[in-house]
Amino acid sequence: MFEKEYTLIMIKPDAVEDGHTGAIIKRIEDEGFRIRGIKMIRLTKAQAKEFYKVHNERPFFNELTEFIASGTLVAACLERENAIEHWRNVIGATDPSEAGEGTIRKLFARSKGENAVHGSDSVENAEIETDFFFSRMELVKE
Ligand code: RTP
Ligand code: MG
Repeated sequence: MFEKEYTLIMIKPDAVEDGHTGAIIKRIEDEGFRIRGIKMIRLTKAQAKEFYKVHNERPFFNELTEFIASGTLVAACLERENAIEHWRNVIGATDPSEAGEGTIRKLFARSKGENAVHGSDSVENAEIETDFFFSRMELVKE
């Protein structure tokens, strides 16, 4: 779809509520990502369950989907060389107490469940997750 790899990221409702949207978008640009699509949206519970359906057997599934549907989030499609791995390095471990210094989760997450940001974990999931949030018309190539 783009020249380089892309990933689908979310700024989750905790970070939007806590006023970290601007800082996280600044970090996105400072890390060399190009923003190819971006929107603010509040998901329904059903949409949150669809987005996280790979986790539907996990004990935290209900808590996770309630949280994702609890407020406004920002979804963005980001292009960069090695976008998926680079973003996951920038955000840090799932649990902010285990995340490295300077990572977005270390800086901004509330907890393991309310952990500020999401990033796709594979090329295949980046495509599925981008299609979940964006139509082709909403994605810019340059
Ligand atoms: P994400 O998918 O949101 O980027 O996070 P991740 O890859 O680091 O973590 P993953 O294992 O995919 O889990 C998805 C999200 O579920 C919540 N979670 N809560 N309470 C818990 O033990 C627990 N474990 C996971 C987190 O919000 C995590 O980001
Ligand atoms: Mg994940």
